[in-house]
Amino acid sequence: MFLEKCKVLENVEIAKNMYLMKLKGEKSISKTVSGQFFMLQSNNSGVFLRRPISIHYVNKEDSSLEFYYEVKGKGTESLAKVQKDEYINIQGPLGNGFLDDKIRKRALLIGGGMGIAPMKYLIDELKKQGSEITFIAGGRNSGALKIVNNMDLKEIKTYITTDDGSLGTHGRVDEKMKVLLKENEYDVVYTCGPEKMMESVAKIAGENDIECFVSLEARMACGVKACVGCSIKTKAGMKKVCHDGPVFDSKVIVDLNPKVKTESCCGN
Ligand code: FES
Repeated sequence: MFLEKCKVLENVEIAKNMYLMKLKGEKSISKTVSGQFFMLQSNNSGVFLRRPISIHYVNKEDSSLEFYYEVKGKGTESLAKVQKDEYINIQGPLGNGFLDDKIRKRALLIGGGMGIAPMKYLIDELKKQGSEITFIAGGRNSGALKIVNNMDLKEIKTYITTDDGSLGTHGRVDEKMKVLLKENEYDVVYTCGPEKMMESVAKIAGENDIECFVSLEARMACGVKACVGCSIKTKAGMKKVCHDGPVFDSKVIVDLNPKVKTESCCGN
């Protein structure tokens, strides 16, 4: 984990309140894997806490890091005001990643809303290990899917769903997942998005005896296991999302759809 002052290469609103930030990284680049997150803080924010934002992409050739985030509060509002060529502080990479040592050939990736964010780098890693990738991306409307244009989906079987039918199939990602499972087999599901969506995806994966990894949300204050803000109950005891996650095997999670509103590392 590193603390870095990074130059902002780009910080643009690609859809209403949804921003893509590109930073010049140095130390953080080589160690970062998909599913991890960074704590981001603009220098002039006046907000003490850093905001947890999941990594969208790491480009090792030009040493850049990409973050996709939604403006939801003071921390992310201040990030959105940062201009090209200014500097921000980042801390990371934090947490674990989607992939472990086991190669699973046929991967189904399901991203909903801001949960699409970590899929770009995950696709890159899966391509390198020779996996066959199917990707379902869903959102409220076509605006929520604009981020997909920033992803290299050549040779990836991609399916888009929107709640309002303005792009792709009218409907939800879990409905599309059920359709695909009728005609295809997968070894693993990787998912990130709203709790209710992941709950449904994990349930369907379980019913079909497919391993499923979920990227969880949690209220995060420190990001480095120094508080108790992100503790969750699992079948393996209490775990800290910032340290033991954010990616968990869905089988160990007790409740993927808690009643308490949480704060996402996917872009709050
Ligand atoms: Fe403080 Fe996880 S955010 S322990």
